[in-house]
Amino acid sequence: MIEASDGLEGVIAAHTVLSEVDGEAGRLVIRGLSLSELAGVRSYEWTARRLWDGFFEALPEDLTGPLGQARLEVWSEVAALDGPLARRETLEIVRALLARLADGEDLATALRLLAAPAVFTAAAIRARRGEAAVAPDPRLSQAADFLRMLHGAPANPAQVDALEAYLVTVIDHGLNASTFAARVAASTRAGLTSAAIAGLCALKGPLHGGAPGPVIEMLDAIGTPDNARPWLEGALARGERLMGFGHRIYRVRDPRADALKAAVRRLMRAQNTPGGRLHLAEAVEDAALAILAERKPDRSLATNVEFYTALLLGGLGLPAEAFTCLFAAGRMAGWIAHAREQVLTGRLIRPQSLYVGPALERVAFGRSPPGASQRAQGL
Ligand code: COA
Repeated sequence: MIEASDGLEGVIAAHTVLSEVDGEAGRLVIRGLSLSELAGVRSYEWTARRLWDGFFEALPEDLTGPLGQARLEVWSEVAALDGPLARRETLEIVRALLARLADGEDLATALRLLAAPAVFTAAAIRARRGEAAVAPDPRLSQAADFLRMLHGAPANPAQVDALEAYLVTVIDHGLNASTFAARVAASTRAGLTSAAIAGLCALKGPLHGGAPGPVIEMLDAIGTPDNARPWLEGALARGERLMGFGHRIYRVRDPRADALKAAVRRLMRAQNTPGGRLHLAEAVEDAALAILAERKPDRSLATNVEFYTALLLGGLGLPAEAFTCLFAAGRMAGWIAHAREQVLTGRLIRPQSLYVGPALERVAFGRSPPGASQRAQGL
């Protein structure tokens, strides 16, 4: 008999050459390199190319120029961002604009998808503020151009470095929920755009990519380090989860939390920003870890990637409700690589469910009702 696994915990559903998450050691390996060799060291374009190597024909050595051109290509879709759409959440705007892109399996489709979240997110944030969108500059890196399109002026090198470190840190992470969703769509041969949209939809929820916005709200509500413990205990007493803590795979600290905390430190030092917010975050983190260890001694609940994401993206002037779109901008390279890997090496993903509904009431003889055979096969 096949055993069911809630949430597919412990199930291996794909072979991949792309990334390995070691939850016991707290290590993330991306195509043979550890996160510490990538975040704050390599550009987003370089890391995306490393992920895509072998999955596209005639992949250029440097993706910076082609990605800049792809930003120009998707820019025309921003014209569809009209009044009613501009009143929606930033992620819903990005999802709607992404759905305008054609499906395909080729490099041109992949580059447009990689370019799209940066262009659409900047335009969506500005539209929500009633500001006109700023056109891409194809000569810049994706990180530099995103900040320029967002703020309407060139970003300083420290800001670009911080965003670059963020995009690289979140670029890929094993078979997380959004990557699995992308692979499921890709396994049906739906095309890269459909796979990317499936990934974005799965990323949206607060248990996956939607956590950093609530982290900022939590820090704002706590206000001062002294208030951390009572506030967190109150949240747990109300049955809430502490955002930015816990992970399905990691039983120790998420290495991405350290990579992002280091990037936040560098950004604050370069900008001479008062360290009050980082100090508050550290106090909240310490209090949360202590409380979670007291309450859940059997389940190791540590800091995850979302906690310092909130500080980093907030420090770059992004509104909290748009944080998930930046996660998507980074993860897009991973979704595309996984979708291609699925198409090239995998099979249709089609698990089974265990029926626990009412027993068959009666056995029908004679003619089946229309559509009965399709229902029985679960099509
Ligand atoms: N705060 C409080 N309790 C938490 C918790 C958190 N952040 N994360 C897990 N727990 C508790 C659960 O309530 C559960 O307790 P129970 O057994 O008494 O019901 C136990 O720990 C196990 O949780 P479970 O839901 O089985 O873990 P999971 O592997 O399914 O979920 C997350 C992983 C990430 C969804 C979960 O840790 C979470 O919700 N974290 C907060 C959201 C977040 O930061 N998401 C970003 C992830 S990168």
